[in-house]
Amino acid sequence: MLKIGAVVFFSGTGNTKYIAKLFKKVFDEQNIKLDLIDIQKNNGINKEYDFYIFGTPTHAEMPPKIFIDWINKNIRYTSKKSIVYHTSGDKKPRDNQIYLPKNVKNKGLDVVINTSIQMPNNYYHILFKRESDEEIAQILLSREHIINNIVKDFLEGKRSEINYEKSILGKKIVYDAFLIYAKKYAKRNFSLDGNKCIDCKICQEQCPTKNICIDNKILEFSNKCIGCEKCIHRCPTEAILYKNKPFIPYKIEKFLK
Ligand SMILES: Cc1cc2nc3c(=O)[nH]c(=O)nc-3n(C[C@H](O)[C@H](O)[C@H](O)COP(=O)(O)O)c2cc1C
Ligand code: SF4
Ligand code: SF4
Repeated sequence: MLKIGAVVFFSGTGNTKYIAKLFKKVFDEQNIKLDLIDIQKNNGINKEYDFYIFGTPTHAEMPPKIFIDWINKNIRYTSKKSIVYHTSGDKKPRDNQIYLPKNVKNKGLDVVINTSIQMPNNYYHILFKRESDEEIAQILLSREHIINNIVKDFLEGKRSEINYEKSILGKKIVYDAFLIYAKKYAKRNFSLDGNKCIDCKICQEQCPTKNICIDNKILEFSNKCIGCEKCIHRCPTEAILYKNKPFIPYKIEKFLK
């Protein structure tokens, strides 16, 4: 019998965390406890769980390296059952996403459900467009039903796999190139509107790679960016500019009130 599970996740702008919390809510309703393990706040796992859930955004059609590295370092070999989910901006799951379940399986885990959940897109600087507020609210609301069904299937022992579409970006080598490009992404594109900055340091505290140093309204980036977009979307005063222009961020919390 399942008593307690863990949902291990990485989230840049909040979509993957939102789904992790939905899992927690739905398992709670079944009297099954679920611990939320945000890899940015946890350096490891210190207890045994009956099952695991792994969730991550899609970056350049792949799971971010930071998440895969965390799994490889911190998940002990176990044959426990698991659910694996990507959140994505794309409707169609792409075959490079397979690196997530592949790495989870390498740890001995039985991936019972592998899924990709379309969410509001958080990458719309040049390509793609931001959904309207109405569309975002609708997407978020409808995801509860999806998670309910996943949990139901999982508890009934049903298995499910993704029918992947071919990746547009193709080979992993493109992703490796993206990782190199991303290192200077923030440095190249983001700057500060000193009139809007309130020196709260949220950007610095929340950056997953400690790529930001802000002091007295002087913002500096190192070369460790992964392009997750957390800083520009989480800044409470919209003080971080993209290519020196104001940017309308995706603030998930605005839609969850
Ligand atoms: C740098 C970057 C690259 C992205 N690349 C893809 C992609 O290739 N395919 C896709 O479906 N979504 C892509 N997205 C969208 C995110 O995967 C999606 O919005 C996700 O739900 C964000 O999750 P988070 O809020 O937990 O960070 C990308 C987002 C970023 C920031
Ligand atoms: S999060 Fe925004 S307001 Fe806060 S220190 Fe960073 S740039 Fe300034
Ligand atoms: S500096 Fe880069 S890694 Fe850090 S929060 Fe901003 S986009 Fe993410």
